[in-house]
Amino acid sequence: MKFFATVLGAVALSVTGAMAETAQARYDVVPLPLSVESVKGAPFLLTPDVKILYPAADEAMERNAGFLAGYVADNLGFTPAIEAYNPAGKQKKGGAPAIRLGLDSKVENSEGYRLTVTDKGVELAGSTPAGVFYGVQTLRKAIPVMPRDSVAAAVELPAAVVADEPRFHYRGMLLDCGRYFLPMDAVKQFIDLMVMHNMNTFHWHLTDDQGWRLELKRHPEVTEKGSMRKETICGRVAQVYDGKPHGGFYSQDDVKEILKYAADRHITVIPEIDMPGHMVSLLASHPEVGCLGADAPYQVSTHFGPHIDILCAGKEETFALVEDILDEVCELFPSEYINIGGDEAWKQRWEQCPDCQARIKELGLKGDERASAEHKLQGYFTKRVEKMLNERGRKAIGWEEIFDAGVNPSTTIMAWHGFDYIVNGANEGHDVIAGSSEYNYLDYYQRQNKDEEPFLIGKYLPLSKTYQYEPMDERVLPENRHHVIGVQGFVWGEFIDNANLMTYQMLPRMAAVSESQWIQPEQKLYHKFLPRLQRLTPLYDRYSYPWCRRWE
Ligand code: ACM
Ligand code: ZN
Repeated sequence: MKFFATVLGAVALSVTGAMAETAQARYDVVPLPLSVESVKGAPFLLTPDVKILYPAADEAMERNAGFLAGYVADNLGFTPAIEAYNPAGKQKKGGAPAIRLGLDSKVENSEGYRLTVTDKGVELAGSTPAGVFYGVQTLRKAIPVMPRDSVAAAVELPAAVVADEPRFHYRGMLLDCGRYFLPMDAVKQFIDLMVMHNMNTFHWHLTDDQGWRLELKRHPEVTEKGSMRKETICGRVAQVYDGKPHGGFYSQDDVKEILKYAADRHITVIPEIDMPGHMVSLLASHPEVGCLGADAPYQVSTHFGPHIDILCAGKEETFALVEDILDEVCELFPSEYINIGGDEAWKQRWEQCPDCQARIKELGLKGDERASAEHKLQGYFTKRVEKMLNERGRKAIGWEEIFDAGVNPSTTIMAWHGFDYIVNGANEGHDVIAGSSEYNYLDYYQRQNKDEEPFLIGKYLPLSKTYQYEPMDERVLPENRHHVIGVQGFVWGEFIDNANLMTYQMLPRMAAVSESQWIQPEQKLYHKFLPRLQRLTPLYDRYSYPWCRRWE
């Protein structure tokens, strides 16, 4: 892939005061709408006089109107007025041209929308405010971006009907705040990026060996000891440390602020409390729930990579503490799902631990070709934790490793390696979220020449490869395809210690992930995606988001 030097130059923009050539909107945005049908007739002229109308007394629709007005202001330099209308009243004929947002139960998909543009007006309808919100996203990406500090006189919206809906309902993105604490503004920026790419599920990785980022009111000692590490490794393996303490955590008020910010944007936040592995930051304040016991000198980890110290599955104290934690997590987060992790739970400690071995004996667990006795103990652990969630009306998601350990069919599996867990998970009746380190780990290098990139975890994942991701492996039986509920991208946090780097890593590969989530596979063609992406990038620049201009 060559670096694309083309810019949006082809679009002629008009500036107030100058003789106006009118810029044109294009509906083939990222992600590509399902259907764009041009219709005969003059275009709609979006000018500063156009109002955005929303049905009265509907807060979510009023917010949608406000978002659209804000986006128009960001792109074009003028802010349309927003105004309520009576949805039960008759539509006035010959009223002033407007963009009218409405609810229409005939739009089948709850996140779908229909955008009808004529010279008389723009109608944007969905069966829910979420659907309308995605129509708003399409509109903001369809209209051009003016040079900063200039104001467009008008933009032409060609007469058309756009009918759109997502391929998958679960369209996720993971942000790892365990390795590095990222400030609130960074988390909000992450959500803004999700919005721009039609994503709806924020998988918030809040705890890891290197830091515990969630305030627990009933266990303040967990963040007191677990949110701060004394220093951080500088390279990947070399034993050089920066000597600087790093830490931070989100207060419960912070979390509530993020939940509201996300919910206003039709995004569900699913917290992850990763267990029984990736738990050294909890062991720092609760050594009694580790296999080495209360006197072990656990400390928040200062280097990356999986750790052999994990929660002890033999001790009852472990389950009592986990239940306390999940109790608070469920009080705080309203999501239907809670992610309980389960990846990379190395079993060396369990093999040596008298308590874990006693539990294995008591349960009669025996290793077989699919799983060792210790791995089956992880199955026991996961089932007990899932039950805690079920008792609180929630469902569990866990990483693919839990699948072989033996879990309930009700557990949703999050794949992160190849396709086998998608295939086997779905064919055995689990809901599966398709992820892949090979395609969707956006913390990997996006350019082959690593010397020209910021220092990162290691592997190479070009945009072109991310775009090729097709989650529906042909081995998933037709009757089980509905179990593949979505696709996710991932921003792991080793070495990603600030918002700019987070954003640079996501852009533009996030656009490729969004097309794996939103559009139908037969519409997914890389050479057609690239010009659409090219037209999206001025929006990245509008918000001063760093992005990889020399994608490969
Ligand atoms: C993972 O990358 N450990 C899920
Ligand atoms: Zn143990």
